[in-house]
Amino acid sequence: MIPNRKLLVLPGDGIGPEVMHEVGRVVSWMQKRERARFTIVEDLVGGAAIDARGTPITDETIRLAKEADAVLFGSVGGPKWDALGFDKRPELAILRLRKDLGLFANLRPATVLDPLVDASTLKPDVVRGLDIMIVRESTGGIYFGEPRGVETLPDGTKRGINTEVYTTPEIERVARVAFELAQKRQKRLCSVEKANVMESGLLWRQTVAALAKDYPDVALSHMYADNCAMQLVRNPRQFDVIVTSNLFGDLLSDLASMLTGSLGMLPSATLGAVGADGRRHALYEPIHGSAPDIAGKGIANPLAQMLSFAMLLRYSLDMEEDAALIERACVNVLASGLRTADVMAPGCAKVGTQVMGEAVVRELEKLAA
Ligand code: IPM
Ligand code: MG
Repeated sequence: MIPNRKLLVLPGDGIGPEVMHEVGRVVSWMQKRERARFTIVEDLVGGAAIDARGTPITDETIRLAKEADAVLFGSVGGPKWDALGFDKRPELAILRLRKDLGLFANLRPATVLDPLVDASTLKPDVVRGLDIMIVRESTGGIYFGEPRGVETLPDGTKRGINTEVYTTPEIERVARVAFELAQKRQKRLCSVEKANVMESGLLWRQTVAALAKDYPDVALSHMYADNCAMQLVRNPRQFDVIVTSNLFGDLLSDLASMLTGSLGMLPSATLGAVGADGRRHALYEPIHGSAPDIAGKGIANPLAQMLSFAMLLRYSLDMEEDAALIERACVNVLASGLRTADVMAPGCAKVGTQVMGEAVVRELEKLAA
């Protein structure tokens, strides 16, 4: 008997719905082949929810997310909603999901797939075989710290305030996720902060260092965030797992992603703590965002969304075999020369979102035969 898995699917805005549609093909294929059974609930988030309901995410959607085995998220935001205040913006949907579900560990892989080694702006020799995992803290730091806001001073000038705050338990739990990932990979962990100028950064460094004794098989190093940005471009293969704060992780993961050639290729997972019942809340999303400039044109790369679904199968449903199958199908389709515009290369055939999605399913069919 195949267990029935409950997924909440939140396509969101921009290219979100288009690329999510292609994941639907993979889901249908898996059900048809009786590899899995899914109960899928779909809901609105971001600008789509603002337009329909006046809020980027409702309490009911948060409830559905808590109830699901996992959440598959598309992307939110666009110029239409840019003028809204911070308490109303589409981005609030993802920030609330992270916060309300306690999704504190954001796993952002930056992997260079062999067929795409020429898509990087860096020389192939620098990025070939690159495989970095950035673990970004995602419920704390300056994104959520108090006080925050803009105040008007007596002389009429204004003062904008955001606060970087970390407690030892917040640092420890995300660092443990990173140490454990490193144990399953090349056993190297680099902890990144600005301990030279920030008290919270010094606490971060000391707290991570103190945990190292629990992971004697992992080689721990520390690096300042500015140096890390430089090293990522100079010699990215020195890194295995990186663990860092919310804001530094936001910046460094965008940087690392571009080493791979296209944002359109990269998935991510955001995990909560394992509860007493063994369950853990988790959300999976491509890192590319809503890309309003190409939305609705049918040219977006659906692979990051498909690979996010593969991560969901691996981390939330323990379906390693199916996850690896989807990943292999994506690589094979690229190797066969099909490319969306973002990863187009000389000699390849340029295709749109739908043709790419269909090709992945055809490849799945071949691989599973
Ligand atoms: C990301 C995005 C978000 C963030 C935005 C959309 C709030 O940039 O997931 O990296 O800053 O965390
Ligand atoms: Mg970002």
